[in-house]
Amino acid sequence: MDSETPMQDDGISIRDLRKNYRIGSNVVTIFSELNMSIDAGDFVAIIGPSGSGKSTLLNLIGGIDRPDGGDIGFGHARISHMSESALAKWRGANVGFVFQFYNLMPMLTAEQNVELPLLLTKLTARQRRERVETILSLVGLADRRKHLPSELSGGQQQRIGIARALASDPKLLLCDEPTGDLDRDSAEDVLAMLRILNADLGKTIIMVTHDDRAARSAKRILRLDKGKFVEREAA
Ligand SMILES: Nc1ncnc2c1ncn2[C@@H]1O[C@H](COP(=O)(O)OP(=O)(O)O)[C@@H](O)[C@H]1O
Ligand SMILES: [Mg+2]
Repeated sequence: MDSETPMQDDGISIRDLRKNYRIGSNVVTIFSELNMSIDAGDFVAIIGPSGSGKSTLLNLIGGIDRPDGGDIGFGHARISHMSESALAKWRGANVGFVFQFYNLMPMLTAEQNVELPLLLTKLTARQRRERVETILSLVGLADRRKHLPSELSGGQQQRIGIARALASDPKLLLCDEPTGDLDRDSAEDVLAMLRILNADLGKTIIMVTHDDRAARSAKRILRLDKGKFVEREAA
């Protein structure tokens, strides 16, 4: 990052990013010179064909996978060059993940699922409980706090998934097909919630989707194909 182009705090900058997968003796390059910038507070949809590397990219940005080359910056942090322990700490403080199939723990209640990431923090039990209550209210599910995931609809489970992602108050939400398993009405609820989190709480959101309507919730749409990005106008 040069001093001529000061980066907004907590913006994301990707430079010449490379990711390979080794399958047996073959090396498959998913992308080799990927570049993009995302401002803090943006809401970006990433679309593109299946297998184009959308999930891979999200996992690299969130620091749960490592690149084979290039640079990922988040504000002043170069996350592509952090040690595993620094990366885990950075991730815990800055990133919330939302998954297509929610990834809730089936034996835990809604509130226990939301509390889970907070067990790794220094918050006291009382502080954790207060935080969980606030977030469950934010996603409109305070009255479902004692329910198990199996006792919730898909849309409600995804709202719990979003609540869990918000627990540690991260600046960045990474959502991989968050509406991919939902009916239209539930999908709209989840998208409305993401728009509010972006507009009112200033969360930076990157959402992978193959749903055009979901993509139109974002401020920007980027299409990833054959290892390159093409910007598309958001409607
Ligand atoms: N752990 C892995 N090992 C080997 N190949 C992988 C792995 N994860 C993904 N791939 C391959 O990388 C490519 C991109 O995958 P992915 O990021 O999941 O694409 P998308 O999310 O766009 O559908 C695919 O060809 C996939 O088969
Ligand atoms: Mg994917």
